[in-house]
Amino acid sequence: MIVDKLGRRFRNLRVSLTAACNYACTYCVPDGKRLMKAQNELPATELLKAVTYLQQAAGIDKLRITGGEPMVTPKFDDFLLGVMELPLSDVSMTTNGQLVLKKLEVIRASGVKRINISLDTLNPLRFKQIARGGDLTTVLKGIDALLELGLKVKINMVPIRTQNASDVVPMLEYCLARGIELRYIELMRMGHLANSNSFQADFMSMTTLLDMIGENYEFERTDAPYDSTAVRFRIPGKGTFGIIANESEPFCTSCTRLRLSSDGYLYGCLSSSRKQYIGDLLNQPSHLALPRLQGILVSALADKQLVFQGEVTVMKLIGG
Ligand code: 5AD
Repeated sequence: MIVDKLGRRFRNLRVSLTAACNYACTYCVPDGKRLMKAQNELPATELLKAVTYLQQAAGIDKLRITGGEPMVTPKFDDFLLGVMELPLSDVSMTTNGQLVLKKLEVIRASGVKRINISLDTLNPLRFKQIARGGDLTTVLKGIDALLELGLKVKINMVPIRTQNASDVVPMLEYCLARGIELRYIELMRMGHLANSNSFQADFMSMTTLLDMIGENYEFERTDAPYDSTAVRFRIPGKGTFGIIANESEPFCTSCTRLRLSSDGYLYGCLSSSRKQYIGDLLNQPSHLALPRLQGILVSALADKQLVFQGEVTVMKLIGG
């Protein structure tokens, strides 16, 4: 097992199936241009091979499917079905939900239990302004369908002062009414936000969010698992919510995440643009591939930072 001085090791793998997305969210892309797939994206078979090797070399036991938007690629079905066959303790995915209704059958057949939906507003007009693609009603219908299937749904909301501050409380009401855990993600200095003035104007801190929520609900802080990114709160009798307080309470020192991009690069840290290509290892037999992978993992682990400083690395490529 590869462990660093802080006791950090890789346990959670996030696999981006494609860099392509059917949205163009304001905080993700600067000019409203849709994200396209990367040039040499790996097929589902090779991504699955990578997961198997990483299980063996790094001790990965939890996996999250991300993008881009993972459901826009035809690889989605094969990857999801394949990954559900692997001995992992937990598989989940992050999606914008736009294609959930179309993918409902494969989701059901795969047996996946948890899905996180990225949704920043319940207002159709604001939805268009922020996501710049897709439509709100389709997402809401998709969420209902997942709940009906019995999946555990979480919603990710990025509060942005100039865009959806007035959704902070209504989103919580919507989620509590449906047994969904809402997770507010503090805006991160990613991509074009890394060096922009709009970050300061748009950032909403955990304290700000808790003040807004506190005007409507009584809540108490609860425990979260060691390597969780979220600070969790309970609203007695109603449910829970979380805040991914990347700026207010950084969680870098207990981070166990490793990221694999759709074109075969490993990223040890979201706050570092350093990456290592493993695509060429995937056609090698394990006795050759695993020792090389071990070496790569040592250096990927050394890329982990102590605090999140922001990065021009594109969230869109590696899906958060
Ligand atoms: N800051 C915070 N969250 C972001 N996401 C994408 N870009 C940013 C950013 N700059 C969110 C998406 C998705 C999750 C993977 O990360 O909305 O829910």
